[in-house]
Amino acid sequence: MDPKKRVGLEAALRVEDGMVVGLGTGSTTYHFIKSLAERLKEEEMEVLGIPTSYQSYFVAVDLGIPVTTLDEHQPDLAVDGADEVDPYLNLIKGGGAAHTREKIVDYAAETFLVIVDESKMVDQLGAFPVPVEVLPLALNTVMKRLETMKGTPRIRMAHMKDGPVVSDNNNFILDVEFEDIPHPVLLEKELNNIPGVLENGIFTGEVDEVLIGSVTQVKSIKK
Ligand code: 5RP
Repeated sequence: MDPKKRVGLEAALRVEDGMVVGLGTGSTTYHFIKSLAERLKEEEMEVLGIPTSYQSYFVAVDLGIPVTTLDEHQPDLAVDGADEVDPYLNLIKGGGAAHTREKIVDYAAETFLVIVDESKMVDQLGAFPVPVEVLPLALNTVMKRLETMKGTPRIRMAHMKDGPVVSDNNNFILDVEFEDIPHPVLLEKELNNIPGVLENGIFTGEVDEVLIGSVTQVKSIKK
């Protein structure tokens, strides 16, 4: 079975009747949301979803999962994908430019479960550029500041639309390459201290468990 499908299925089994569930973004999470929708129908369970993007909102609504907001409910569990996972369960996320809403929902959850295929596991974060969401008016000042931090920022460009990617929050995304990221906890904070940065894609200290899918099995690493 496709590893992404396998972990999505496994994560859906972690959901219990009555739970409020954060619905992450991306191709792996898509399988989770789909498996969850199937379970809800087969087992007549009642669950509310809190989407982390328009993508997960549309998928949830399309598949009949009732959705709610953080104003109304607190998530018991959040299930989300990642672009990189290190041995300390720190992450880089934001390949789909959804990391700001993802971080808000994932960090608010009682339990934060990450689902990935084996290719996402790394010894140290940093081969994947760090996505940084920036208010458009601060684009130049943020880029200059990132360069002083030895980062190489590139504006993420859209496909099937001319010009830059505009996030679900109407901002630009910078993909920032660093030579290495020896201290992800510090870098997460440092990036968010730049005026005009809304949120960055480094997630530290919040993951409870990672499910890693391969063609034959699912492995779990816990905090
Ligand atoms: C979106 C994300 C995704 O969770 C991350 O990019 C992984 O995506 P995929 O499961 O498609 O590999 O952070 O902003």
